[in-house]
Amino acid sequence: MIPLNLETIEEWLRQTDEIRLEPLWAEADAVRKAHVGDAVHLRGLIEISNYCIRQCAYCGLSVTNTQLERYRMTDDEILDCARQARDFGYGTVVLQAGEDYGLEAERIAGLVRAIKSQLSLAVTLSLGERPYEDLAAWRKAGADRYLLRFETSDKELYASIHPPRPGQTVDRMAILRHLRMLGYEVGSGVMIGIPGQSYRTLAHDILHFESFDFDMIGVGPYIPNPQTPLGRGEIAVPIAEEDQVPSDELMTYKVIALTRLVCPQANIPSTTALATINRESGRELGLMRGANIVMPNMTPVAYRTRYEIYPGKACINETAQACQGCLKGRISAIGRVVGDGPGGRIR
Ligand code: 5AD
Ligand code: FES
Repeated sequence: MIPLNLETIEEWLRQTDEIRLEPLWAEADAVRKAHVGDAVHLRGLIEISNYCIRQCAYCGLSVTNTQLERYRMTDDEILDCARQARDFGYGTVVLQAGEDYGLEAERIAGLVRAIKSQLSLAVTLSLGERPYEDLAAWRKAGADRYLLRFETSDKELYASIHPPRPGQTVDRMAILRHLRMLGYEVGSGVMIGIPGQSYRTLAHDILHFESFDFDMIGVGPYIPNPQTPLGRGEIAVPIAEEDQVPSDELMTYKVIALTRLVCPQANIPSTTALATINRESGRELGLMRGANIVMPNMTPVAYRTRYEIYPGKACINETAQACQGCLKGRISAIGRVVGDGPGGRIR
């Protein structure tokens, strides 16, 4: 029904009339059902370290945030969380951290091998822009998927909020292509409403999801973090006010729905950032407007309060047990079912 190109995507993104948006929600939900069905797959998220050597201008884990107390989980702690994910019936664990070279490549490879052989779970890694040899070693150890959001397709905006690491020669898009070449399922995505992000850029981001044909696409609202330069408003915003994308809930649903339409088979999470800006029903509305994945947090409570990418993060005081009960209840309340098995990309 809806022909999508740069112009029509931008029109949808600018549409704020709830009645006119109804067909977008309906189409996204129908396409989701036709291509990935009613199963909602759960990915147990383990935030294994909050150390980071990078300086992303929006992110609370940035090395410049000296207020944050840092932690790195032990192998035993990580494997205990993974075992709990298996016991909860989750098919995948996601090991996520800042870009932390204190997590040695061989140590991560050993963890991947242990999780694969002892627990038979799919393993997703989300560990930043690591060297190609690390990415290759982890793939060889059995890692199935890798997540690395490209954040924005506007090169100038990207550069203004991502100071490069000295000596870094490859960009994120090249890393994403390399991950695919290594045989990973590749996940990416963007933040919605970054200061300086225009409607046109966001429309380009969505078309980029389509042209790369990502296996997984995570999008969530930008949430200002006062511990960061962008959150404090210290970075100049070079676009007109009427072109600036708002970082609100409605915009997030529009991006989820359009993403489903351009990538019918992708795995699309209803994210924690969305749940943070609407605790009551953000998760559900994401799932009803195109998403088919949720990522329950498995990080031990003592650590999860310190994985503060942005303030007010949902589930910060909940246990893994509480999140699993909560999410399973929310999924069945909207007439969907919890998926079995790894829930990989459908081809
Ligand atoms: N608000 C929303 N999302 C954020 N991320 C990082 N900082 C913020 C923020 N302030 C997102 C980025 C990153 C992912 C792990 O979290 O998109 O890729
Ligand atoms: Fe580490 Fe952003 S500062 S991922």
